[in-house]
Amino acid sequence: MDEITLTVDGQEIKARKGQTIIEAAREAGIYIPYLCWHPALKAFGACRMCVVQVERMRGTPASCTTGVMDGMVVTTKGRQIDGIRHNIMDLILSEHPHGCLTCPRIDHCGPQDTCLRHANVVDRCVLCPQNERCELQDVVYHLQMKDSDLSYEYRHVPLDTSNPLIDHDMNLCIVCGRCVRACNEIEAANAITFIERGDRTLIGTSLGGSLSESGCTFCGACVDVCPVGAITEKDNKWSGAPEKSVVTICPHCSAGCQLELLVKKGRVIRSIPDLSGPVNRGASCGRGKFGYKYIHSNDRISTPYIRKNGELVEATWDEALDLMATRFSENKGRAFGAVASPRATNEENYLLQKFTRAVMGSNNIDHPDSSCGADAVSALGEVLGIPASSNSVQEIRDSKCILAYGSDLTWDHPLIAVQVKEALSRGATLIVVDPAETELALMATHWLRHLPGSGVGVLAGMAKVILEEELQDDEFIGGRCEGMDDLKASLDGSSVQQLAESTGVDPDILMQAARAYAAADSASLLFSASRSIESGAAIARAAANLGLITGNLGKPSGGVTPLRSEANSQGATDMGCVPGMLPGYAPVSEGAVSFAEAWASGLPSEAGLGHSEMLRDNAGLGAMLISLDSIREAPDIDASALSSLDFLVVHDLFFSDIARAADVVLPAASAAEKDGTFTNIERRVQRVNKVVDRIGDSRTVSEIVSALASRMGASGFDFESPTEVMDEIASLVPSYGGISHDRLGVVGLQWPCPDSSHSGTPILHSEGIARGKGLLTPFELEQYSPQMDPDYPIFVMSGVMREMKGVVELEGRTRAMVNVDDANTAGISDGDEIAVISSTGAVEAVATVCDYVPAGIIQLSIPHTDTLVQSLNRAPAVSAPRGGSRAKLAKLAPVVG
Ligand code: FES
Repeated sequence: MDEITLTVDGQEIKARKGQTIIEAAREAGIYIPYLCWHPALKAFGACRMCVVQVERMRGTPASCTTGVMDGMVVTTKGRQIDGIRHNIMDLILSEHPHGCLTCPRIDHCGPQDTCLRHANVVDRCVLCPQNERCELQDVVYHLQMKDSDLSYEYRHVPLDTSNPLIDHDMNLCIVCGRCVRACNEIEAANAITFIERGDRTLIGTSLGGSLSESGCTFCGACVDVCPVGAITEKDNKWSGAPEKSVVTICPHCSAGCQLELLVKKGRVIRSIPDLSGPVNRGASCGRGKFGYKYIHSNDRISTPYIRKNGELVEATWDEALDLMATRFSENKGRAFGAVASPRATNEENYLLQKFTRAVMGSNNIDHPDSSCGADAVSALGEVLGIPASSNSVQEIRDSKCILAYGSDLTWDHPLIAVQVKEALSRGATLIVVDPAETELALMATHWLRHLPGSGVGVLAGMAKVILEEELQDDEFIGGRCEGMDDLKASLDGSSVQQLAESTGVDPDILMQAARAYAAADSASLLFSASRSIESGAAIARAAANLGLITGNLGKPSGGVTPLRSEANSQGATDMGCVPGMLPGYAPVSEGAVSFAEAWASGLPSEAGLGHSEMLRDNAGLGAMLISLDSIREAPDIDASALSSLDFLVVHDLFFSDIARAADVVLPAASAAEKDGTFTNIERRVQRVNKVVDRIGDSRTVSEIVSALASRMGASGFDFESPTEVMDEIASLVPSYGGISHDRLGVVGLQWPCPDSSHSGTPILHSEGIARGKGLLTPFELEQYSPQMDPDYPIFVMSGVMREMKGVVELEGRTRAMVNVDDANTAGISDGDEIAVISSTGAVEAVATVCDYVPAGIIQLSIPHTDTLVQSLNRAPAVSAPRGGSRAKLAKLAPVVG
């Protein structure tokens, strides 16, 4: 029995073994003053503010470092304890401006009162940006300290407001060290540290430079744990206390972080990562922390538009829906296509594909994913039986070996990068397969820096080493795999040396990496196709091969994980927003009958077109519905193809080139304005909760297709709420069978969850490979060589901005990281305006000349302005070169005047 009983200030309370006194007291509603302690951090025991007295224990132990024991008798206040606390506070306040702590307003002022001390009208104290959330203030109140007790000497440290996201006022710092520990413990980083010594000790960067230069990823963890106003968000820091807070899921990547969004006057004013989030556990990245302003951007589309006489003009919803119903009715069957958004909820995407199939009679339904699209996920399904990540995010930290393929995790999947760094700190081996110098490549035990287009060749080389040196798991292969002979035969014609040379990787490093991966008790393989020329399917099969031959499927901290890019990429696939599969991965050729029965409608049984095919000139489509900002992730789209459509509807948050080309533009509701669910990278279905009222006249996909179905005489779309839609999903999709909104609670459920008594499945294949036997697929070595094109000699990798400072300064601009040699060849200097030209189009960018990328590669960094600052001037030209394409560079003439 882990429950124990103790007495605190005469009150008997229950606690769990392993808790500290302060944790047990807080759960029982008993306040013990503290400063250096924080629930998200390891106990530090430095400030001594939390001291207590414990019967039969000497002295005054810190309650944040003292564990509870059965029968313990604790006293949290009294003359001696208060005396210690007063002494500590006197020292702290001798350096902390404390007018805000002792202002008479605290007891007497209400909103819009005149501040008695400062003679100004306020609805909050104006002295401290942390006011109304200042934990130092809590301690002062608790100790009933009076102004007359206090005196202080101002430090005269200049305010640092140079950063676009975070302000520093070290005059307010109480040197509790929470921010330094949060940087390290929560984000596995060391961007900030204690500087100076003795009474000059403060917080800063180790070399005295800016946060950008220190390796800060702007996750904001330091802001969230700062108990005073020393480190604050630049924006909304004077907003005071929120009126409400809502926990929901971050919309910015596939990790599924839970965020607490604080709301005042109908606007989100702050985002705080939630401690109870099962994936992030109080951590976040810059996008989650600061990327909420798009919700209230003045640039949001707020009303429907219809094209009249060549111009888009404002319209009512009825006008727009009537027109859509008429034109869609003229384009049924294969003439209709829909692109779903990987940022829409499961419920929205389920209804969009149901409308496309059951009402429009078309399987032309898909969603884009810039990291691991439908081909990669489908391939994983073919070889393993379930097209999704086999393991959970939090397991990565316990992996003994991690192979990260083709992703700049620090920026593309920051929460997973934190897991990898944590594993490294626990002694794990890290293998990075990437042509570019990412942060993790520099930290890696083995960095396999291959030539563009040869990444799968690297994985083949590792498999060759493992099989040649007989490092494979024969028992696992014998019992759980098939196709071993074909796999071996595909590697027979090449030596390790040849494979290494063809990829540009040092053979010794390749062999060391393969041995490390095979030898590890648990090895986790994370892969993305976003930086590769090879198909996602080829990468997925190669990744599964490695996982299978080393017996790394079905075990904790092992597995193979496709790094889906968007918040609901996994859910969009699960819901059947793919051309060949119905919800739950039933092939359209086989599953059409049961779904047709359930939906009371005939369904097409031939696979439809993928989103790239739909958006090409000869797709043969007459009408399309493109939902939300999905178009932003679609690679290599020829804009001219859209002009061949008879009728185009775009449902989006903001105007883009695609929206401007549409016949009807519909205002979309953002994730903060609706209820539903997202399914994250680890198959965890979590609740998306409405945080603020709809912006303008925006609507969800569900509302639109339901209204359209009604106009078109179709039934089966009369849902009162997303909860009812999920109930229908659960009735038709076996892996979602036990999922309902009510059951999801705080931590959600990981599918497969077949019935209402099932608690979800964190690890797949533990009872055997879901397919029956894992299918080992032959490597096609001839396809993995670097591909050269003399007309377009540069390989383009996509990425996100590496420094937030640049993001904000270059708001709305794309950057190109250009190798020094390539820059010299093209006559390009750092900061030049350049054009990156591919066979399908061009994009303008600002050149950053560096050795971050090797010669022959540029990294196009799409600005985060869409998520980090208010402007959402996104959507570069749809034909622009994106990750995986080839291009050439040209310097643009400077603009004169
Ligand atoms: Fe316990 Fe600081 S809060 S020692």
